[in-house]
Amino acid sequence: MANNKLKHLAIIMDGNGRWAENRGLKRVEGHKKGAEVVRDITTYASNHHSIETLTLYAFSSENWKRPRLEIEFLMKLLDNWLKNELETYHKHSIRFQAIGDISKFSKKLQKRIYDTQEATKNNKGLIQVLALNYGARYEIVDTINRLIKDNIEISEDNISTHLQTPYSDIDLLIRTSGEERISNFLLWQLSYSEIFFTQTLWPDFNPQELEYIIENFKNRKRRFGAIF
Ligand code: FPP
Repeated sequence: MANNKLKHLAIIMDGNGRWAENRGLKRVEGHKKGAEVVRDITTYASNHHSIETLTLYAFSSENWKRPRLEIEFLMKLLDNWLKNELETYHKHSIRFQAIGDISKFSKKLQKRIYDTQEATKNNKGLIQVLALNYGARYEIVDTINRLIKDNIEISEDNISTHLQTPYSDIDLLIRTSGEERISNFLLWQLSYSEIFFTQTLWPDFNPQELEYIIENFKNRKRRFGAIF
């Protein structure tokens, strides 16, 4: 029987807007509740015996197409959330890392992101990676351009180790809300990942459901292209 080890978990957190609309609330209320779920899931992952990295899609490079007020709300929420989260990061020895092009964010938010990375860099537990203004195609092109500039051979190994996310390949990707797409998330790192789609909207997602999905993952036959 398979007993796969889950080291790197990635999640596309989707459905905040629908969760709020279903309740007659403004979409931003879904984001607020979604941010609380990020904390619950991160805490669960940090206590899990095998998870080393949790990568969460928090803002894609396509999300700029949303109404200006919603974007402003998300930026403010992220800033406040990081400020308040420092306690949780230290309590569970979590290291925070951002990936994506954060130069498009306000100076204040950029500083918050850098300061949080700096403050948690010696924490030895879970690495929580937030993908912020992230797009995987851009990441791959940018990596290849850096390799060319530094005169390094273009090879699978060199690309893998020079990506913004040189942590490890992803073992399991979860997407909430019933949408079954990758949406330009971690295209290179997902090559051999198991994928699980759930109908649950992100604000309703919880550690119990994550545990169920991890059990399902453990029993999957991962072949990495070979025949076992
Ligand atoms: C998708 O819901 C979610 C996002 C655009 C971003 C994820 C943001 C959060 C979970 C909250 C903030 C996160 C942190 C780390 C503070 P959607 O708006 O696309 O939902 P919909 O598809 O139902 O419209």
